[in-house]
Amino acid sequence: MTVRYHAAGTDTAHRDTRDWWRQAVVYQVYPRSFADSDGDGIGDLPGATSRLGHLAALGVDAVWLSPFYPSELADGGYDVADYRDVDPRLGTLDDFDALVAEAHRLGLKVMVDIVPNHSSDQHAWFQEALRSAPGSAARERYVFRAGKGEHGELPPTDWVSCFGGPAWTRLPDGWWYLHLFAPQQPDFNWDNPEVRADFRTTLRFWSDRGVDGFRVDVAHGLAKDLAAPLRDIGAVEACEPRDLPEDGSHPFWDRDEVHEIFRDWRGVFDEYDPPRVAVAEAWVRNSRRTAYATPQELGQAFNFDFLEAALRAGVLRACIDTALADARAAGATATWVLSNHDVIRHASRHGLPEACDAEAWLLSDGRRPALDREDGLRRALAATLLMLALPGSGYLYQGEELGLPEVADLDRAALQDPVWTRSQGRSKGRDGCRVPLPWRRDGSSYGFGSGGSWLPQPPYWGEVSVEAQEGDPAAPLEVYRTALRLRRRLLADEALEWLSGPDEAAGGLLHFRRSGGWHCVTNLSDTPQPLPGGTLLLSSAPVTGERLPPWTTAWVRTATE
Ligand code: NOJ
Repeated sequence: MTVRYHAAGTDTAHRDTRDWWRQAVVYQVYPRSFADSDGDGIGDLPGATSRLGHLAALGVDAVWLSPFYPSELADGGYDVADYRDVDPRLGTLDDFDALVAEAHRLGLKVMVDIVPNHSSDQHAWFQEALRSAPGSAARERYVFRAGKGEHGELPPTDWVSCFGGPAWTRLPDGWWYLHLFAPQQPDFNWDNPEVRADFRTTLRFWSDRGVDGFRVDVAHGLAKDLAAPLRDIGAVEACEPRDLPEDGSHPFWDRDEVHEIFRDWRGVFDEYDPPRVAVAEAWVRNSRRTAYATPQELGQAFNFDFLEAALRAGVLRACIDTALADARAAGATATWVLSNHDVIRHASRHGLPEACDAEAWLLSDGRRPALDREDGLRRALAATLLMLALPGSGYLYQGEELGLPEVADLDRAALQDPVWTRSQGRSKGRDGCRVPLPWRRDGSSYGFGSGGSWLPQPPYWGEVSVEAQEGDPAAPLEVYRTALRLRRRLLADEALEWLSGPDEAAGGLLHFRRSGGWHCVTNLSDTPQPLPGGTLLLSSAPVTGERLPPWTTAWVRTATE
C-alpha cells in the first residue's frame, strides 16, 4: 500500500534563507543544567557558549535556550522577573551576545523562550500591583478579583493550577490573583494594551540582539474570558488538553482571541530579514493546533502526540499522518519531540511497560517496575531514528544524544520542582530530566563545572558522559551524530511516501521513503522483519544479515528511484 505526501516546501539549499526552520533540528539547552563556567553549581551562559562546539559537532541546526532571565526559580526560570535581562547567576547581556555570536559563527541559529502567560511575582509590575489599590492601573496588568463567600474568603472560581491546588492566591488585603501555574507566577491580563506593547518590545529586544526565533511558552493560555462574573469550570484538571472543548469556549485555554495576539506578533517577526520564527507550546486538541502554526501567526506548533504515543506501529502511523496533514493545512511543517525538560526522558519512558503509571514509577524512585535500561535505550534510539527521518523539524533535548535515562531516584530533599510540593507529594515532578549533564568520565560534577551541581548526579553519570561515548560507534552519541550528518545530506524536500500499510503496522513495521531513495524502516515488534534492498546507511542497533532485528530502525538508501 502506497500513500504519498507531496513536498509542500523547500529543499535544504534554503537552510540559510527565511525557510531555515522548516526541517531544522533544534537542540534544547536547559541552561542551568548544561554547563557551569564559574563553579557555583548552576549552569550559565558562558558555560553554554563554551560547549556550543558539541552542538555543531552533533550536527543540529539551531539551539533553543530555555529561560535564562532573572528569576526566583519558583519554576526553574519559567517565572521571569525581567524579560529583557539575564539572571546574574547565569551571566550578563554581554555574555548573551557572545553566545549568539559564537552560535552564528558555528552556523547555529538561536531561539529563546518567551514566557508570556505569566511573570514572576518578583517582576516590577507585580510588585507595583501589590503596592497599589484594588482597581488601579497597576493591578489591571494582572488578574485580580474579589473572592466569593460572605467575606470573600473563597477563590473567585474553581479553576485549578497546573501544578495542583487552586489557581488563585489571596492577598492580605483580601483580593485574589490568578496563577494557572505556581503562586509565584501571576497571570498577565492580555486584554490590557500595556501588556501587549511590552511583549512587542521584548520580542524586538531579543530580535535586535540577533535571536533567530522564539519558543512560546503556554501559547494557548494568554487570552482569557475575564468578563465578570468569571465562570466555574467544574474543577477538572486544568492542564488536560483532551478535556478542552473544540470551539474555543473554555474560559482560559485555547480561546479564539489568542490568535489576534499572535497575528500581532507576526507583524513584529516580519520586521526582520529573515523574519523571526516561532514555535507554540500549545497543549490543545489536534483540531485546534493548526491555527497557531499558520504563517500569519507563529509558523509552527509543538505536537506532543508523538511524544505521548505508545511505541506501537499503528499508533505512531496515525500520529504521523495526522501531524503531517495538520502541518500541511497550516502551511507549516510538522514538529517532532521525544524528550524535553517537562517529561520523563524517553530512554526511560520507552523502557517502562506500556500500562505502567509513570508518576507511580517515579514515586517508587524507579524501583517498581525495575527499569531495563538497555531495553529502554534500544527502543528510544529506534524512536529517535524514526523521528529524524520524518519531514519537518525535530526538537532534541540536551542529554538525549547521550541516551541519558531519567534520574528517578533523586532524594526527596533535593527536589526543586514546584510540582513536588504543590501536588503534596503526589507527583515527584520534573527534576529527574534536569540533572546537570555529564561531559567527562570523572572529575568534579563529571565536567559540568568545578563546583558540584544543583541537582545530585547519579554515580554512573561518568559512564554515560560525552567523553565516555565519543568514538564508540555503538554509543548513542555517535548514533545521533551519524544520523544528523546523514540527515543533512539526505534531506531533499518535505515529501513522504508510505511503503507499509495497516497490515504491516499490525505486525509492528513502519516503512516510508523520502525523496532521493532514502528509506526508513522501523521494527517495533519482537520478531525480525524484512529490510528493503539497498545500502544500509545507519541502524539504531546492530544489523547482521538481511533482516531488521526487533525494536530497531534502519535507514537504507536505494539507487535513485
Ligand atoms: C511550560 C514549560 O515548559 C514548563 O516548564 C513550565 O513549568 C510551564 N510552561 C509554566 O511556564
